[in-house]
Amino acid sequence: MSILLTGGLGFIGSHVAAVLQEHGQEVVLLDNLCNSQASVAKQLELLCAQPIPFYEGDVRDHALLDSIFSKHPITAVMHFAGLKSVAQSVQDPLLYFDNNVGGTITLLQVMQRHGIHQLIFSSSATVYGVPLYLPYDEAHPTKPINPYGRAKLQVEEILADLAISDKRWAIAALRYFNPIGAHPSYTIGELPNDQPNNLMPYINQVASKHRPFLTVFGNDYDTKDGTGERDYIHVMDLAEGHVAALRFLDTSAGLHTLNLGTGQPYSVLEMIQTFEKASGQTIPVQMGPRREGDLPIYYASAAKAQSILHWQAKRSLWEMCDSAWKFQLQHLRSLTASV
Ligand SMILES: NC(=O)c1ccc[n+]([C@@H]2O[C@H](COP(=O)([O-])OP(=O)(O)OC[C@H]3O[C@@H](n4cnc5c(N)ncnc54)[C@H](O)[C@@H]3O)[C@@H](O)[C@H]2O)c1
Repeated sequence: MSILLTGGLGFIGSHVAAVLQEHGQEVVLLDNLCNSQASVAKQLELLCAQPIPFYEGDVRDHALLDSIFSKHPITAVMHFAGLKSVAQSVQDPLLYFDNNVGGTITLLQVMQRHGIHQLIFSSSATVYGVPLYLPYDEAHPTKPINPYGRAKLQVEEILADLAISDKRWAIAALRYFNPIGAHPSYTIGELPNDQPNNLMPYINQVASKHRPFLTVFGNDYDTKDGTGERDYIHVMDLAEGHVAALRFLDTSAGLHTLNLGTGQPYSVLEMIQTFEKASGQTIPVQMGPRREGDLPIYYASAAKAQSILHWQAKRSLWEMCDSAWKFQLQHLRSLTASV
């Protein structure tokens, strides 16, 4: 029995693959490498000391999905494949609706044809939009403020209709907050192909002198120190949340929407200070203007995931920063060694 991970070579998918393997679960990986590298598949094989089937291809490719489901005894799918830049989604919304919504529809059609009804979908806290209250709980109204978030919400709506149409579907839409950090082997981590979309890869690049300074967008918000506050969650905690969700779906049909966060917001400056302590590096900072569409603060209520999945994030901000930096160092060493 195998689990198919679409986007399985990406940041979150690769960590979930490692944790599933640790639990004795076989995985099959599909990724078109638009934001990852084939070397991650090799790293995962080394980490898990066994071969892992990897298909380079697109989740919108019906024929490829058909052949994967025919070849492997797949019982469930974790659907990570997606584009994740809010700014890019504003510039090119069709790309986002095609890849993130269209890709999911193709996947669901092929799953249905092959009689596979267990799915974990990577949703996002961006579905909530401007907070009417905090922490966001799952009952908070959803009104995303950009095409990336709207594409996530559209998929959630499709999943809700699907679950009503056929009672065999067992689906978890996991609304991630801000995953950072790396696997304790430091051999997999967050490695975007182009300019990073998130704070931690930027900090890593400044710490390793690949960028001269970090721009902090806005220090005049109504938050504890004026900079934005987010609910950072260790990617290993997030990965363990997927294992708990998969177990839960074994006995729970329907669509289940759950936040995966810690419930604890940290500011950009707190994050930088913690990173500096964990890494021993100095992060030069320049204050910039607020970015269009950025929210001052948001964080999760983690209560539903705790009560339903019996799962709770347990790693600290320091562990997130420490592991992210150690991964960066290991990655740079491997690049130097391969020259
Ligand atoms: N990282 C975050 O902060 C965050 C927060 C909330 C939700 N999410 C969602 O979680 C999922 C995984 O995020 P991540 O941080 O690991 O991103 P990532 O970019 O590291 O991983 C996504 C992977 O999907 C692949 N991919 C994209 N489109 C594809 C397609 N059409 N066919 C096949 N492969 C494709 C990319 O090459 C990449 O390896 C995404 O759906 C993202 O929207 C991420």
